Amino acid sequence: MQLKYIMNRKKELLKAPRMAVEIAGVRFKNPVLTASGTFGYGLEFANLMDLNSIGGIVVKGLSMKPIKGNPPPRIYETASGMLNAIGWQNIGATEFVTAKLPGLRNYETKVIVNIVGFELNDYLEVARFLNDCPGIAALELNISCPNVEKGGFHFNKNPKDTYKVTAAAKKACRKLPLWVKLSPNVTDIREFARACEDAGADAVSVINTLVGMAVDVEKRQPRLRFLTGGLSGPAIKPIALRMVWEACQAVKIPVIGVGGIARTEDALEFLIAGARAVQVGTANFYRPDASQRIALGLQEYCRSHNIEDINELVGSLHAYE
Ligand SMILES: Cc1cc2nc3c(=O)[nH]c(=O)nc-3n(C[C@H](O)[C@H](O)[C@H](O)COP(=O)(O)O)c2cc1C
Repeated sequence: MQLKYIMNRKKELLKAPRMAVEIAGVRFKNPVLTASGTFGYGLEFANLMDLNSIGGIVVKGLSMKPIKGNPPPRIYETASGMLNAIGWQNIGATEFVTAKLPGLRNYETKVIVNIVGFELNDYLEVARFLNDCPGIAALELNISCPNVEKGGFHFNKNPKDTYKVTAAAKKACRKLPLWVKLSPNVTDIREFARACEDAGADAVSVINTLVGMAVDVEKRQPRLRFLTGGLSGPAIKPIALRMVWEACQAVKIPVIGVGGIARTEDALEFLIAGARAVQVGTANFYRPDASQRIALGLQEYCRSHNIEDINELVGSLHAYE
């Protein structure tokens, strides 16, 4: 009886699909990551899900010194989504390295640090500092945040500026792969993805939030003190998916899909459209273990569709027959 059980278990294990993906030489145990700003510094979720069940955690955007962020109200729920104008609130890179990174090193899950900057030199300073810290798998350059007066999205307004900041950041973080997080608030995302590739980026993350707005009709004032905010959640998924597909057509470096991913099927759509990996964002707020469920769901999908390796799915979209 026991032998039969062992044999069946062995067969099952042999059949287990390969879920690992590689991005710029870094191996992720599966293609599911959490998106910056929606999963804190990761450790806050340790009691809510198994952090080892996902491929990676992208931590909240870090500056060198702590930033308070915008005054409230700075989040507002919308139909199938949310608006946020948090504005780079973070504990600062030094505090992250001393207080958070040691805890994160206890997990197999890869840590990606999102970095922010008002000026070019701000990005470079953080990149240089983090470059020497063990336990970080990659940096993600956030040039796409719409909720700040200066910096951020202002480097994503024309491809020349995107090239400049990417090339400089790439020089500053010689040891770590550099991902660049792109904004959907542009006419043609392909131009920006190409600028990143030409400047030496190792991957692009597509997309950050879309600029939106909501009005309180009783008070006749904006719902957010900042007036506008970044729209995220299931409402933006079709736009994100289209942009990921476009970026995949334009560049050879890996594209990481972000935007409205809440279920396994959403993640599958992005992988089939060409994304090498996906990031789960707003879904973490209402289902803290969303990323774990999606990672398991992908494995189940591969198993039930006789897919031996998840990479077979990447870019497998074909034209309508
Ligand atoms: C509250 C909040 C904070 C965010 N903070 C960051 C950030 O610090 N850096 C960044 O690159 N993106 C940030 N984002 C954008 C997300 O990482 C993600 O790109 C976006 O929300 C779209 O994905 P989603 O629809 O799954 O949330 C934030 C999003 C939200 C909702």
